[in-house]
Amino acid sequence: MADRYLSFTGTTPGRFLTRRLGLPQPTALHRWSAEHPYFTGELLHLSAGKSPLDGPDGLAAVLGRTGLAVRARSERPVAVVLDATGVTDIDTLAEVHAALHPVVRSVARSGRVIVLGAPLGTADHHQAAVQQALEGFVRSLGKEIGRGITVTLLRLTDANAAESTLRFLLSPKSAYVSGQVIGIGGGAEVTAPADWALPLAGRTALVTGAARGIGEAVAATLARDGARVVCLDVPGAAVELDSVAGRLGGTALPLDITAPDAGARILAALPSEGLDVLVHNAGITRDRRLVNMALERWSSVLDVNLASVLRTTDALLSAGGLATGGRIVATASIAGLAGNAGQTNYAASKAGVAGLVRALAPNAAAEHGVTVNAVAPGFIETKMTAAVPLFIREAGRRMNSLGQGGLPVDVAETTAWLAHPASGGVNGQVVRVCGQSLLGA
Ligand SMILES: NC(=O)c1ccc[n+]([C@@H]2O[C@H](COP(=O)([O-])OP(=O)(O)OC[C@H]3O[C@@H](n4cnc5c(N)ncnc54)[C@H](O)[C@@H]3O)[C@@H](O)[C@H]2O)c1
Repeated sequence: MADRYLSFTGTTPGRFLTRRLGLPQPTALHRWSAEHPYFTGELLHLSAGKSPLDGPDGLAAVLGRTGLAVRARSERPVAVVLDATGVTDIDTLAEVHAALHPVVRSVARSGRVIVLGAPLGTADHHQAAVQQALEGFVRSLGKEIGRGITVTLLRLTDANAAESTLRFLLSPKSAYVSGQVIGIGGGAEVTAPADWALPLAGRTALVTGAARGIGEAVAATLARDGARVVCLDVPGAAVELDSVAGRLGGTALPLDITAPDAGARILAALPSEGLDVLVHNAGITRDRRLVNMALERWSSVLDVNLASVLRTTDALLSAGGLATGGRIVATASIAGLAGNAGQTNYAASKAGVAGLVRALAPNAAAEHGVTVNAVAPGFIETKMTAAVPLFIREAGRRMNSLGQGGLPVDVAETTAWLAHPASGGVNGQVVRVCGQSLLGA
């Protein structure tokens, strides 16, 4: 279901009318396309406090490899990176205001503001306070900046370990990721790809629920990045599945993921080297308020969305089905993080996915060299959300900082970043792809 309001506000009369009526004016986002894969323009590199990331092979070198022209001053930056890793007290926190106050208005439409912070967990309570302060700052700026600009806080100690993340955030691929706090470090090995345009070349990725919607977009994006894709969906969707797999030069695996032997059947379908990327995307909703929810609605949702994720992950990890350097990306939902009336079953299953990811991540990295992360989509334009009643659908679309729904490709690009061989430092993260939805923190 197309977002007609967004198309209307993109026209001159539409802009005029909605401005006169005081209605929201979402900006059409700049997304990745083969013709325009990168941003072009200037990246304004600022800092607050004395940064530990400075140095010959430090942050400046990594930013220089993004393809943007890095500047200390810019009239119209497409992106601003404020290095606040050196913010340790109230005075250096004030430098965040001093650095960004004069420039926020000049950031280009659909641009980026990225604040870099230090990891939390320091014993110094002054430093802990001001580093935590950056989260409130970033989330508030994301809500007020407008014009399709996203704002993100990245916590890191090593700029090189964050290169794939910085490249993702500083590109059109992250158009719908805003208001997020992402931590880098303590994961698995970081491997720079031979070709940054084809980071998954020679790797095999399996995507569940790949016959349509977000799963289809994930399979297509991983294939674009060079992966051989194995597309899994229920046997009832075999025709669509064959068509997706055929188009992507991959293979189709018709299989109900809730089958007790699903793990063994996946293993049997894989090449002998095993799998490099496992994307748990299949999911269902069976909404009812708890008072009206029969057990079947509860169990079917928990089985597809959580129990099968636990079972297949365990089966693949214990059988060595995920290669060292492997990546697991599971699909949560902002409904799971914030809760939603009528979705006790769905939200329980998706909160469970977040719990699984956080607990498994350190062990999977230590024992198997595999990272485990989750994407948590907000309102994404798919058949699932097209079935939502009009009024609730419109609210879902507008109640976020970007004033519009996301597209399946937004979740797919985030998944591809997490699947990247150089994203080994990103582990145990639950990254919302929600345009900074008002639902939940
Ligand atoms: N669309 C959104 O706004 C949104 C928001 C948050 C989270 N999500 C999550 O993203 C994922 C994809 O959502 P979507 O909107 O593309 O949904 P969708 O309904 O369009 O696609 C889901 C796919 O999963 C498959 N599937 C369902 N049960 C399966 C099973 N037992 N075995 C194998 N495949 C199975 C379906 O056949 C379908 O092809 C889901 O996990 C969903 O919960 C979606």
